[in-house]
Amino acid sequence: MWEPAGRDALRIAWLTAWMTGVGLLAWVVVLGIGARALGPPPARPLRAEQWLVGLGGVVVPALLVAVLLGAGLPMTITTTSGGAPLATVVGEQWWWRIRYESPDGSVELANELILPVGIRSALKLESPDVIHSLWIPRLAGKIDLIPGRTTELHVEAMEPGAFRGVCGEFCGLSHAHMNLWATVLAPDAFAARLRREAEPIAPSRASDRGAALFLASGCGACHTVRGTPADGALGPDLTHVGARPSIAGVLPNDEAGFRAWLEDPAHLKPGAHMPPFAVLGDRDLTTIARWLESLR
Ligand code: CUA
Repeated sequence: MWEPAGRDALRIAWLTAWMTGVGLLAWVVVLGIGARALGPPPARPLRAEQWLVGLGGVVVPALLVAVLLGAGLPMTITTTSGGAPLATVVGEQWWWRIRYESPDGSVELANELILPVGIRSALKLESPDVIHSLWIPRLAGKIDLIPGRTTELHVEAMEPGAFRGVCGEFCGLSHAHMNLWATVLAPDAFAARLRREAEPIAPSRASDRGAALFLASGCGACHTVRGTPADGALGPDLTHVGARPSIAGVLPNDEAGFRAWLEDPAHLKPGAHMPPFAVLGDRDLTTIARWLESLR
């Protein structure tokens, strides 16, 4: 948050610096007065010292708090307005479902939010069961995802790059593993990525032995892979899962990562609803892992 790369994060960093600075100043003054009070008392109470207590104890703190409130309140409006609708972010236990409605069709990503650089965008935030909070410290403020309500976070990235996001509200066993990457792209790269994400997988991939094993193991009951019969909606859409920055927000996106995840998800992410698939055996797990990794 001290290295802001988003318009709102920059505003918030400035406000934090101001609040900390003013707070420090008040602290030093109070310490000074406290030190004076520890010294020998005056023969009789001085009028000036009575004034100091009234001024320093009531008037100055009230003024300081009013000024900081005046600086902070408008920010709750600027950080929650001004963006054009971009995506819906759904907080699941314990991963992020991110849905884009593009001209090429609906696209669903998991634990990766893609954003166009320099364009103020609105994210609609929803949650089906518990409260989460979306926080990408270098880009924007932090807003709760509340069941039964739609909240909004407005983001304006100032530079391309990859920025880590977390869940800022305790939401259950794997709250601390609820990671997200915000990938900020140039506007044309952003449009190209969305177009690619909207496509189904290549026919050669769909006829792969890995695809057959994936379907035969029942993975399609929870996951969608467009271009195959798998159309489950409970877990993340895996159509181009190999192109994402991480697996489940906790593992590097490579064959070994997929292999470890398939074998025992709850070992890596306690409480994860996906069952372990160690029963498939080493060879089949590796085949499915290799196939998932190839879906780019
Ligand atoms: Cu989701 Cu904490």
